Amino acid sequence: MLSWDDYHKQESAPAGAAAAASVPQQSAEPAPAPEPAPAPVEAAVEAPAAPVAAEPAAGASQVPPVGLEENLARAHEALENMDVAPGLEELEMGASRVSVDEKAMINCRADLNQLVPFKYDWAWQKYIDGCANHWMPQEINMTADVSTWRSKDGLTEDERRIVMRNLGYFSTADSLVANNLVLAIYRLITNPECRQYILRQAFEEAIHTHAYQYCIESLAMDEGEVFNMYREVPSVAKKAAWSISHTHELSDPTFKTGTAENDQTLLRNLIGFYAVTEGIFFYCGFTQILSMGRRNKMTGVAEQFQYILRDESMHLNFGIDVINQIKLENPHLWTEKFQQESIQMILEGTQLEIEYARDTMPRGVLGMNAAMMEEYLHFIANRRLSQLGLPEQFPGAQNPFPWMSEIMDLRKEKNFFETRVIEYQTGGALTWD
Ligand SMILES: [Fe+2]
Ligand SMILES: [Fe+2]
Repeated sequence: MLSWDDYHKQESAPAGAAAAASVPQQSAEPAPAPEPAPAPVEAAVEAPAAPVAAEPAAGASQVPPVGLEENLARAHEALENMDVAPGLEELEMGASRVSVDEKAMINCRADLNQLVPFKYDWAWQKYIDGCANHWMPQEINMTADVSTWRSKDGLTEDERRIVMRNLGYFSTADSLVANNLVLAIYRLITNPECRQYILRQAFEEAIHTHAYQYCIESLAMDEGEVFNMYREVPSVAKKAAWSISHTHELSDPTFKTGTAENDQTLLRNLIGFYAVTEGIFFYCGFTQILSMGRRNKMTGVAEQFQYILRDESMHLNFGIDVINQIKLENPHLWTEKFQQESIQMILEGTQLEIEYARDTMPRGVLGMNAAMMEEYLHFIANRRLSQLGLPEQFPGAQNPFPWMSEIMDLRKEKNFFETRVIEYQTGGALTWD
């Protein structure tokens, strides 16, 4: 008897092999030779005398085409023997329905294919909000940016460095985040509400990478130079390497949660990506580019970054909620030692971002300088620490860029530069012919 897996293996085998298996001979006799060569088989299939799947012509014999009966019998048998347990997990047919109490952030044994009943409403709400904020890079007019970038006097050297470095960092950073979501986090977060948001976030990361590519292409930058900065420019490479170091273990397909040690490895990844990569590493670059836009320079690039920042602030908030919910459900993971380690991760991330600020701003530019950015990053680090329930490490740090908070809170109806209103009516764009 064929198992369901065997059935699929057979179905996905190369066409020649499938034909060899199902149409070995013109007669109904069993095939004497186990492996007929592909060429004669193809010839047999194509021969007018043996139309395998064609309708019989009027007046033609009603004898089923060669092989059809066997194929139907095999399909029937496979369906008879199919395992009807739903999902990837080992769930039993007839098992009791999923209840809210069975749902869990990690190591859940309940059916993960059933979205409702909801337990984590906050995750579902973020999915809804993310969809309501949908946007695409091509909607943003880049014409003014192209002429500014081409003009000798359009930007100072320091301003050009800021644009180049940030496109260099971000063009790869969002791919790192997306890969971590899809290859590491998704399968380890075991409730469908959070997975629904992670799917939305993964698409948003694709849009962000698209947006950076759109800027790079519009400005006719050297793509090789920009996309390789994460390996070639030290201040960019260090940040990328720090993020990647937290994804290695989890992206191993054999990695499993379920022990305190591995559950902490997952938490470390979540803190590394949500609180540090998306929560700290993006902030110097966002502030620099948005400051440029506020000064009416590179307004297209700045508008792209503005939409990305709005998405990212939601990613960050989702990640913080995920981490805190895991802590709540698994208090034994949040040990004194682990808390110290988490504080250190935030401090490492802050230090790397300060180095990035110094590298990208060797002098004052756009009404800001590296010292102001350092103060801002201390303020941001304090925020991340308190969001995770950890003590602030930079007492009294102030926000020198209060306008950044206003941008993050912006609603979709009105954009930062008040250039236009975006309303999404995706259904209206569809045609059916
Ligand atoms: Fe992103
Ligand atoms: Fe993100």
